[in-house]
Formats: sequence, C-alpha cells, structure tokens
Amino acid sequence: MIAKIVLDKKREGRALGSAEIREFIDLFTKGIIPDYQMSALAMAICCRGMNERETADLTEAMMRSGECLDWPFASADKHSTGGVGDKLSLVVQPLAAACGVHVPSLTGRGLGLTGGTADKLESIPGYNASLSLAEFRRVVSETGVSMTVQTAEITPADKKLYALRDVTGTVASIPLIVSSILSKKLAEGASALVFDVKCGRGAFMKTPAEAHELAAALVAGAKAAGRRAVALVTDMNAPLGCAVGNANEVAEAISLLKGERGGADVELCIELAAWMVALALPMELENARELCRTRLADGSAFAKFEAMVVRHGGNLARFAELRERPTFKFRIQAMRSGYITAIDAEKVARAALALGAGRLAAGDRIDPLAGVTLAVGVGAKVVAGAPLATLERSGDPDGLEKCAAELMKAFVIGSQPPPTGSLILETIT
Ligand code: URA
Repeated sequence: MIAKIVLDKKREGRALGSAEIREFIDLFTKGIIPDYQMSALAMAICCRGMNERETADLTEAMMRSGECLDWPFASADKHSTGGVGDKLSLVVQPLAAACGVHVPSLTGRGLGLTGGTADKLESIPGYNASLSLAEFRRVVSETGVSMTVQTAEITPADKKLYALRDVTGTVASIPLIVSSILSKKLAEGASALVFDVKCGRGAFMKTPAEAHELAAALVAGAKAAGRRAVALVTDMNAPLGCAVGNANEVAEAISLLKGERGGADVELCIELAAWMVALALPMELENARELCRTRLADGSAFAKFEAMVVRHGGNLARFAELRERPTFKFRIQAMRSGYITAIDAEKVARAALALGAGRLAAGDRIDPLAGVTLAVGVGAKVVAGAPLATLERSGDPDGLEKCAAELMKAFVIGSQPPPTGSLILETIT
C-alpha cells in the first residue's frame, strides 16, 4: 500500500475505501506506517471529515487491531464522555449487574480535568484496577461486573493513535472521537451500549449541538456494528453530586448505592442502568426502571458493588479507615445571601486538580484523599457565611488557600432561584 495515495485522497476530501482504511490501520499498528503519516491522515480527517461508512470502517479496523471479547450472556456497558464529579459508573454498573446483566467495563485513568473511574476505585485500599484479560473474564463471568483499566491487548491502534492526536491538535474530530471510543467499547464485547454524552462547562462537548452530533454518531456506529445502543445527552454545567475527587467520590457512590439520598444524579443513574437492562435482556424500559429502583432499595446493587470490590482485592473496612485519616481542610463560605444559581464545573475541576486529585501529565501521582466536597447544590438557598464547599488534601497545607480563592469563583449567588430539573437533555435511540 502506498500511504501517500491515501493521504492525497483524504486531503482532497474524497472518501477512503474500506480496504484502504483497514490496511492503513493494520500497517500503522505494526509500525510499518510511521507516526508522521498517521498524524497527517488524522489531520486530513480532522479537516475533511469522514462519512458514516468510513467512520464505521475506521472503528472496525481499530477494534480488530487487538483482542475482541465476547460473552455468552446478556451484557451491557455504559460509557461516559467524562464529567466533573462523574462517579455514576460506580453506581450504574453494579446496579445493572444486580438486575441480571453482565457488565464488562474497561475503564480509564484521569488526565487533565477529567477524573478516571479506575483512579477512584484505586482509592479503595487493595483494589486492583489492572486485571489481566483472563482475570477480567473470570470476574465478569462469576461476579457479573468488573471495572478495570483497559489492557494493552485491547485496541492497540487507538492507544498509538490517541497519543499522536494528543500532540498534533487532532483530538477534536467527530469521526476520530467516535472510532476511538467505539473501537474500545466494541472490543469489550458487550451486546448493548449506553452512552452518557456530557454537555456543558465541565464537559468535552460544550454545546447541546456538539453533544448531539457526537451522541448520534456513537449510536449510529454502535448499531452499524450490530450492537443495541442508546445515548443520553446530559447536563454537565455543574458538578454531579457533592464530591469531586477520588475517595470522596467513592464514598458518595456508596451512599447512593445504599439509597441514602435521592436527587437528579440518582435519577440519572437509574435511567442509565435501566437502558442497559432494557437493551441487554431485553425488556420494556419502564419495567427496567422499576427493577432498578427495586434493586437499589433492597440493597442488591450495593451488594454487587461490594462483591466486585472484594474480587478485585479491595477492602471497604480499610477504605472507611482511610476516610477517617486527618487531612488538611479549608472551608469556603457564601459572601452574601441568596440562591446558588450556578456552580461552574470546570472551575471546581481545576481546584480539585490543583489539590492533587488528578493528573497534569500521565504518570503523575494522585492524592486519593484530595478533592472538593460541595456543601450546597444549584438551587440551594444560602445565607451569608454559610458553608459552600470544603477543599481537602493530605500531605501539606500549601496552596489550599489559593485553590480556595479559585473555587470561590465557581459559585454564582443570585436573588432568584434558578430553574432546576432533570439532567437529561436528550435521548437518542
Ligand atoms: N475519549 C476517547 O477515548 N477518545 C477520544 O478520541 C476522545 C475521548
């Protein structure tokens, strides 16, 4: 194959053939096509786009660059495009498993403003989020749910390509994003896929139109690959729930799994899990919602989470002890009375990152106890001096006050209560 012919074709805006895409990705994975030619193709795709068929071909080629799993039972996974305080996977995956769906969930580590589910789980002492594929298969088969970091055997082409896109300004392209996300999710083998496409200040997709485009493309691509799929476009202007960090997010997820509070985030968990159940078993969505509510209320969703943690070597008693450890804390307070009309998710994420809850570069060490815990949500009525949030870190107190000053800017207090409602902006089937 002459890579240059493919590059010329895409630069001129012409559609690539299925065989051309397959061969290009295969040779890139094997190191025969060099990084500079792959980067050039990524840039041409960014500028010229790809049609649905090309995107499906690119997805399939990347999926087939590594191992592809399949499961002999009803299976589903939920994928979020990443949000602030987004601990929903910790609730949704065990909840769906408690309803009888097997949940093979290969997840990621956090980088930049986006937290990673694997990092959150690793704040549980002993939790091994780096299972081999054989162990992953065993845990999913025997426990019904496993959450572990994607292994090197899954979609190596995406791993190589994503590293190039990151440094060549070629991340922001719908066909590249879709093929990257979908190739990994398809290789995981679940027969039903539920996408939570986040939209707003704390999300990759800032506007409903951008989020819609990505959501529709993910659903179309998953269906083209023979999977059942749905995407929910959901609001990510304010953080989800109260906790933004790692251990504090796990603690909040446990409290949701135990049914200790309701709220828009709990309703979103139920909706996402219900779609997984409805598509995988399959069953009517309304019945799936009912089943999810029952499994949350009767403790079986928490029991599934506990069973998964134990199978991964985690210890929830030691997690409770860890949470008791002294940390450096700083509380911020309302400067005036009124209603919380907005909490800027991006600013909260920046504060959590600066505290040590996330990574600026791959490989940075995370402080599992670092993070922000909100004392109020959007719509709350506050009086001057009321607590807004607590910042926390272990290690040393330096920088806490500076982070606190930045975090203050995330809160908007107005004199009228803002409109509140569901986090779900759109459902695309
Ligand atoms: N997440 C991915 O896995 N890939 C992308 O391209 C963007 C977000």
